[in-house]
Amino acid sequence: MQASPQIVGDGPGGIARAAAVLRHGGLVAFPTETVYGLGADATDDRAVAAIFAAKERPRFNPLIVHVADIATAEALVGFDARARTMAAAFWPGPLSLVLPRRPESPVSLLVGAGLDTVAVRVPAHPTARKLLLAAGLPVAAPSANRSGAVSPTTAQHVVDGLGDRVALILAGGRCDIGLESTVLDLSGIAPALLRPGAVTRDDVEALIGPVAEETAPGSTDAARRSPGRLESHYAPGLPIRLEAAATAPGEALLTFGPDLRVGPHVMNLSPRGDLTEAAANLFAMLHALDRPEFTTIAVSPIPESGLGVAINDRLRRAAAPR
Ligand code: TXA
Ligand code: MG
Repeated sequence: MQASPQIVGDGPGGIARAAAVLRHGGLVAFPTETVYGLGADATDDRAVAAIFAAKERPRFNPLIVHVADIATAEALVGFDARARTMAAAFWPGPLSLVLPRRPESPVSLLVGAGLDTVAVRVPAHPTARKLLLAAGLPVAAPSANRSGAVSPTTAQHVVDGLGDRVALILAGGRCDIGLESTVLDLSGIAPALLRPGAVTRDDVEALIGPVAEETAPGSTDAARRSPGRLESHYAPGLPIRLEAAATAPGEALLTFGPDLRVGPHVMNLSPRGDLTEAAANLFAMLHALDRPEFTTIAVSPIPESGLGVAINDRLRRAAAPR
């Protein structure tokens, strides 16, 4: 029998306990506005190594460091004018900035997986903010799922995916955005969008000008710049079939927009065709349809605009050869 993880609420007692676990080098799963993260003290080599072990994550895939405010971030990485502009506009919020690591940065070298950059973000979720303030540490946190699996948007998803590999889960309801943060690399001459998210390319370009064309997912270039961008990712147990017009017997259906099909095998990301609502539902519905009575999850087309870019990015990775 596996011991189950402890789940605590985000009242003062829960926050104090989670902060103490982090300060002692333990792992804490906690909610952010994007997805649940699996956090550890970013300055503690052993704690960071424990994240990689719990997720079975490849060591070459670097982690995002979460901090309470921009001043804390500036002690870890070098900001230029573009980075300050982006942080002022979108922090706290779903944007991670890849910036040059400061030579004196206390962040464990394992966090950057050998790169000379570190990704930083200031999350907006009140529970995450309370935890960061109480711990008084930069917190390295990937999504709280096993490497390659669908990201968690509820505390129960974390329990299902990681079980007793995480000692403590700080529960704070469901994640509003439901897709991981936009990853923007500002360490080079041209800004590069490494992972699409709720902060869109248009949002970035309106403030700091042209963003380098994103290298195709799975290409060696993209994989080198952001090693997490492996082709197969976000994958449920069942195969995924994209751009499905109809379903075959035995298939589950994940649909979008007005659709008269109903039944125990059908879930609709947003009957009114709202991409924000669809993003918030995506991972929860993939988790829910991932059941042994189905052969495949068929997915209806999703428009490639606004948040649809990030939704389709995740769906293509979920459908990629494993
Ligand atoms: O919304 C999020 O970002 C969530 C929550 C918990 O904050 N975290 C998350 O972490 O999605 P993770 O580890 O699942 O994804 C981090 C992504 C990976 O694609 C990784 O390769 C990229 O960020 N990344 C991290 N540090 C990087 C760096 N120094 N250079 C390039 N890419 C980096
Ligand atoms: Mg992840």
